[in-house]
Amino acid sequence: MSGGGESVKVAVRVRPFNTREKERGAKLVVEMEGATTRLLSVDGGEEPKTFTFDYSYWSHDGFTEQDDAVLAANPGSKYASQQNVFNDLGQGVLDNAFQGFNCSLFAYGQTGSGKSYSMVGYGPNKGIVPITCDVLFQTIEKSQGAVKYEVTFSMLEIYNEQVRDLLQKVNPKGGLAVRQNPKEGLFYVQALKKVAVGSYREIESRIEEGTSNRTVAATQMNATSSRAHTVVTIQFDQISKNESGQETKKTSVINLVDLAGSERADSTGATGDRLKEGANINKSLSSLGNVISALADLSMGKKKVLVPYRDSVLTKLLQNALGGNSKTIMIAALSPADINHDETLGTLRYADRAKKIKNKAVVNENPVEKLIRELRAENERLKTAMSGGTLPSAADQSSVNMSPEEKERMRQEMMEEIKAQLSANQEAMEDFDWDKKHAQQKEDDPSGLTDKAVMQSRKNKEPYFANLNEDNMLSGVVFYFLAASETTIGRKDADPQPTVMLSGLSISKKHAIITNVNGEITLKPYSSSCKIKVNGLPLTGARNLEHLDRVMFGSNHMFVFHNPINPKAPEGTPNNIEWDFAQKELAEARGLTAGGNLTKDQQRAQDQILELLPMVNEVNAVSEELDKHKGFEIVLLSEEAQEGNNRETKVMVKMKDLLNRNSWLWERGKFINRRYVIQDLYQRYIDGDEGIMNIPKEEDPFWEPAEDVLIGTANAFLQSLGFNLDFDGKITVTDFKGKEEGSLIVCIEPCDQKGKSIEEDDFVDEPNELLGKPYHFKVSIRNGEVHKSRFSKGLKVKYKCYNEQEFTLTNEIKDTLSPEWNHSRIVSIPSVTEDVLAYFENSSIKFSLYGKQIDSAPDSKLSKLTTKELRQMENMQDSGRKTRIGSMAPEGDGQDEAGQIKGELLLLKRKYERLEKKERRLQEICKQWEDKPREEQLFDPFYRSVSAVAYSTGSKLKTRVHMLNKIIQGHKALKEIQNGDQDKMVKEGNGKVVQANGGGGGGGGEKTEGGSRACSVM
Ligand SMILES: Nc1ncnc2c1ncn2[C@@H]1O[C@H](COP(=O)(O)OP(=O)(O)OP(=O)(O)O)[C@@H](O)[C@H]1O
Ligand SMILES: [Mg+2]
Repeated sequence: MSGGGESVKVAVRVRPFNTREKERGAKLVVEMEGATTRLLSVDGGEEPKTFTFDYSYWSHDGFTEQDDAVLAANPGSKYASQQNVFNDLGQGVLDNAFQGFNCSLFAYGQTGSGKSYSMVGYGPNKGIVPITCDVLFQTIEKSQGAVKYEVTFSMLEIYNEQVRDLLQKVNPKGGLAVRQNPKEGLFYVQALKKVAVGSYREIESRIEEGTSNRTVAATQMNATSSRAHTVVTIQFDQISKNESGQETKKTSVINLVDLAGSERADSTGATGDRLKEGANINKSLSSLGNVISALADLSMGKKKVLVPYRDSVLTKLLQNALGGNSKTIMIAALSPADINHDETLGTLRYADRAKKIKNKAVVNENPVEKLIRELRAENERLKTAMSGGTLPSAADQSSVNMSPEEKERMRQEMMEEIKAQLSANQEAMEDFDWDKKHAQQKEDDPSGLTDKAVMQSRKNKEPYFANLNEDNMLSGVVFYFLAASETTIGRKDADPQPTVMLSGLSISKKHAIITNVNGEITLKPYSSSCKIKVNGLPLTGARNLEHLDRVMFGSNHMFVFHNPINPKAPEGTPNNIEWDFAQKELAEARGLTAGGNLTKDQQRAQDQILELLPMVNEVNAVSEELDKHKGFEIVLLSEEAQEGNNRETKVMVKMKDLLNRNSWLWERGKFINRRYVIQDLYQRYIDGDEGIMNIPKEEDPFWEPAEDVLIGTANAFLQSLGFNLDFDGKITVTDFKGKEEGSLIVCIEPCDQKGKSIEEDDFVDEPNELLGKPYHFKVSIRNGEVHKSRFSKGLKVKYKCYNEQEFTLTNEIKDTLSPEWNHSRIVSIPSVTEDVLAYFENSSIKFSLYGKQIDSAPDSKLSKLTTKELRQMENMQDSGRKTRIGSMAPEGDGQDEAGQIKGELLLLKRKYERLEKKERRLQEICKQWEDKPREEQLFDPFYRSVSAVAYSTGSKLKTRVHMLNKIIQGHKALKEIQNGDQDKMVKEGNGKVVQANGGGGGGGGEKTEGGSRACSVM
């Protein structure tokens, strides 16, 4: 027995850069030296933050991929391989398990930081869990003694505070119950399947089974998995006889936990959301943080600390692992790139706290006979209780004030509790006959052990789809073979039932048909409303699939097509297609992203777009399905288009009421939070919960009280102030897309302290002459014009001047589209400095125009339409709006012009490449014909081959591609013009007249990049 308490051991591990980080030349901000980990500041300005841990694993570089794909250390490098990590951590776990201690190992870190890589591993780079299981059985096999070993295995997932058994295909609604054992005080999962495993191979296939169940469930729920916690539990029993001949059982429970990505738990941006408590999603992870903090405080000697184990399912189940009877190790997985600096710092701080926790592990060894005797006694006690003896009676003190209904409910609950304990006891009794359980299982469940070889041989012969998931661990887990001459895809409730049954959003009963003619696979949507995308582009008719094509059905079933019969992928296709690649392609086809040299700001924005895009699509699909009359789109706010002085492009989500056209702009965090609540709501809908159709609006994630909306911004440049001159004129208000929404008449004039205009003669030749003197200027907003009648409910302007912390706000003017504010204010600068002059020279005052929105009743004609119809209408209007230069409507139908043209261009380019091939082939045929002796130059066969190749519809493709290229160049040129020259009418390439937008007008010689505020990531 180990006394006194032993600290949780903490390891940190830093992964290599991923492709995206490499492409963008990410900066490494993590250093390791011995036990020290240093986190460098992003710009090198601040001192590095230093931490020390029990184990530090440098897995960032210094390795080579061997022929068998195993990553191995280069000679002399400090690279830590999977084996190195196992040698310290996994072996330690095993040693402790053999001694009879409970052990826990959990991996913490942000999404994509390498938790699953360390715990489970990918392909031949096996992680701690499989190696530990492998070595466990090797050790068992080698041992010669008289000890009998019994291993049982279970695997569960905690998702949204519900426990799912991953060894069962079907789980009860709401998940399995978590109960507390009244005797030991520990929590357990009721009715969790625990299988007896007799070899490493058996464990391996159970893990595969669990992963496959998890993948199917995750896709069907439209859920992304990174927020699920996976817990593998291995119970390891050693039964032997002690000196006195008594049979004893040494038990070790090994918990291996792959936690959900931590930044999802971060509520940045969601803090202001009225529904932030509604999303259970972060509960387990944030409770874990609270438990760790409380335990760290306790071990630092703080008194009266309550450890909140009961707050979440995860902390209930990890109670022993944390501050209890367990030897515990935490692996903190670190992302190495500058862009993740803050999340990495969060992880390091978390790890630092965890290492303070003290556990008291004891050897769990007891005589078998005693264990059985106790179980039997307990069973008897429970049975007696069941028959009524100890249930609360009217005389019971605590139930005196209870109504009969309450008493009945309490009685029921207690009955449930007792039943659960009885069945748990029953199970425990059965566990004593492990051999029987093992034999039985093999009989009942042969399918649990799928034959890898059979699967592999099919994959070598038959064309198939392999799934892609946001979580790499869940990619390539589900396969659909397409060997039959016809394969149909659709929902389970279609008649006849389709071959491949998909469920979830935007999947039609009959969705698609796939034909296979001698290995030539053709995919066709069942009707035009069935959403399918191939390689990012919408599919409207039949199409031959090529090896490694990416196919998306509905809004979230993504697959990679494999064709072993013709395994030639189009040039430029990567060998290994991951989720990120497919997502980027989808976004690219809509003109939402671009390759090339992006600035840091643009990269960050692009990453966020790629993250949000699938979520926005999903939420739109739920809105349609539940008929919520709301539409969502991603919006990019350039620095110009935001109020205040934020210097970064902001990626936000706009929710729009499709009935009264009110809109809301949500921060990324708030949107992600809402989406969790929306997923929950949808899950309840799927589960048949009628109540959700009438939920009060306060609980409805699609509802939001009306708030003021930012109509647009306008800039007045200040150069004239440097010369003691005024600026007086009309400035254009443009929205975030660069579209003109109205105008303001403003005046900014130098004045004296009291606001009296200064004489014309007081102008200065050189701004330097103002240095050191006090300076006053008057900001006046006289009136304005707004184009859209729905903004007549109230209009006001907000602005800030030099260094001001607070915004100044005008009055709200109601019931007009030509508001007269007659606002003016004097700004005083005590003494002009170089800074002030630079401000005059380079800056502007940004005026943000706000419109009041009220929860007005919808137009009666509109309210007859469904959300789907309203969205279609909206999208049609959008594409008809000619002044739009770059919008961000994320779902294909609402694309902006540039996005649409880009998509089309992509398609045409591909067609063009094919035509070029045809042309070459025609030339070859002609050449062959010419080279033949004259007598063999037969016209008929020549004509046949030529017409076979030449038969094509794309005769004017070249011209169209050329033209489209020109239009895109036109767009670019337009932007450039706007950057340099404000407020002029510009002719677009195709002859349309477009209002150039951007900063203010009249200031003259603006130096900022005021131009188009349209999507800056193009
Ligand atoms: N030590 C490592 N060596 C090589 N590649 C790694 C390493 N760690 C992680 N990776 C790679 O980084 C990617 C992300 O890792 P992983 O899937 O383990 O992240 P995660 O932390 O489990 O993310 P999530 O929270 O989304 O589940 C994977 O492609 C993985 O192969
Ligand atoms: Mg993972």
